Amino acid sequence: MAAAARGVLLLSLLVLLLNATLCSGDTYRRQLSLELNPGLNSSVSPLPPGINLIHIRSLGDGDTLHFLLCNQGPPTLLIVHTNSTSSSVQVDWPAFLSGNNSGSLRVEPENSVLHSNALVLVRLWEYDDLNDTADPQTAPPSSFLPPYELSRFQWGPLNSSTLDPPGPGGPEARLCGGDGSPAFSQGELCLQLSAFGSGGRAAGWPGLLHSANSSQLGFWLQGVRPRADRARFLLELQGLGRPHGPGRVEVRRSIDDEYSPSIFTVSQWLATPPDSSSPVLGFVQWRPVAYRRPQPEFSDTTPCHHSAPAAVEAAASGLGRAFYGAEAEASGLNISFGQPGEPSYNTTQYLSWTVLAGVGAPPVDSFSPLVISIMAVGLGTPLLLLLLGGVFVCVRKHRPAEGQAYRPIN
Ligand SMILES: *[C@@H]1O[C@H](CO)[C@@H](O)[C@H](O)[C@H]1NC(C)=O
Ligand SMILES: *[C@@H]1O[C@H](CO)[C@@H](O)[C@H](O)[C@H]1NC(C)=O
Ligand SMILES: *[C@@H]1O[C@H](CO)[C@@H](O)[C@H](O)[C@H]1NC(C)=O
Ligand SMILES: *[C@@H]1O[C@H](CO)[C@@H](O)[C@H](O)[C@H]1NC(C)=O
Ligand SMILES: *[C@@H]1O[C@H](CO)[C@@H](O)[C@H](O)[C@H]1NC(C)=O
Ligand SMILES: *[C@@H]1O[C@H](CO)[C@@H](O)[C@H](O)[C@H]1NC(C)=O
Ligand SMILES: *[C@@H]1O[C@H](CO)[C@@H](O)[C@H](O)[C@H]1NC(C)=O
Repeated sequence: MAAAARGVLLLSLLVLLLNATLCSGDTYRRQLSLELNPGLNSSVSPLPPGINLIHIRSLGDGDTLHFLLCNQGPPTLLIVHTNSTSSSVQVDWPAFLSGNNSGSLRVEPENSVLHSNALVLVRLWEYDDLNDTADPQTAPPSSFLPPYELSRFQWGPLNSSTLDPPGPGGPEARLCGGDGSPAFSQGELCLQLSAFGSGGRAAGWPGLLHSANSSQLGFWLQGVRPRADRARFLLELQGLGRPHGPGRVEVRRSIDDEYSPSIFTVSQWLATPPDSSSPVLGFVQWRPVAYRRPQPEFSDTTPCHHSAPAAVEAAASGLGRAFYGAEAEASGLNISFGQPGEPSYNTTQYLSWTVLAGVGAPPVDSFSPLVISIMAVGLGTPLLLLLLGGVFVCVRKHRPAEGQAYRPIN
């Protein structure tokens, strides 16, 4: 009896588990299109060298997501969610390129905008970690080198090789640049924006789970010469939006590290409305891991840490100001890379990190097929044994009766 009950319990657990995985399959799809410098007449408003505005339009059943990436000032990703399938981006180019570009970029009709937020990559810090602690909080101020202001970078052109046509993976745009100093003479800092037409995972580590409602931003340093013997880096980010406070960073545990080995947590920076019971408006999500080679092996992984988000003065982001004007509120945090005892940055001169940014609640990783099959075997084997045991007990129970019926013949 107890065995049968346990069998039923295990069976229902297994069914629940399979259900949770198969039914969580994210089937929402969007149609993507990419345009460079929407509405620009370059004979009227010539672009300063290297400046571009990329617009990815992501059309849903009853809504549109506009992903905009611009490198006027520090590189900025702006995401605008509208409840219309015909909303459009309107840029007043002469104003957009002027010193005061407040309000020069609008998403129309204005009353269709449900939510917007922006992520700004403000600066790259470098410090000499003499004591090999990988903790910038305890590093003396004198160990910090002058930071690289990303607003002062010269960026390479965006050409057709970096503007992929929408394929199964969605459009991508890549931006690489440097500050012209000797450290960048053989190297560059790159950003790659990807948008997606459906849920899935990008190939390779950290294999973040995305939905059609999110975009992915890859960041890497390649061939940049360190300015110190034990150089380590920090990336300073800002979240920009309409007044909503600094938001919060949550660290969620997961039992599955198949897509980013040995990393069992996901960190997410959530834009939360003042009323904390309302749903999350937007997010930036990452696995706390960076890689020290372009095609990393396990030994090339290195952890990253975030500082607590704090209210800061908004960076002079061209896109941020053009859309939000003076209204924008900014909060900032630092992502620091590395751990004590690992080879110095100079051994590979490479560092990469990836984030997901989007509107609404961040994607939640469910169990991977591998973990499911391991669990299915783990739960299924005892279940099978219990069932077999049950059958055996039943057979044994019935046999004596039959035996008795035939005993007179013996
Ligand atoms: C750009 O502006 C010029 C001058 O106003 C005009 O002659 C030209 O037709 C415009 N080009 C496009 C593609 O709109
Ligand atoms: C910038 O332009 C906006 C809109 O045109 C205007 O309201 C604002 O006063 C200007 N700011 C400065 C500092 O000129
Ligand atoms: C879209 O949102 C605006 C403002 O939130 C609202 O006035 C409008 O009715 C909405 N439209 C639809 C089609 O839901
Ligand atoms: C290294 O550690 C020593 C002893 O703890 C400390 O006095 C010194 O300031 C540290 N130096 C740096 C650069 O962190
Ligand atoms: C994406 O957005 C659409 C429209 O707002 C929504 O119906 C869908 O559930 C969202 N998908 C995810 C995975 O959040
Ligand atoms: C980094 O490595 C290069 C060559 O491998 C060397 O020339 C350079 O001095 C090293 N830089 C530092 C800061 O260690
Ligand atoms: C990031 O780190 C640098 C160097 O420690 C510090 O000056 C700066 O205030 C930090 N920024 C934020 C937003 O915490």
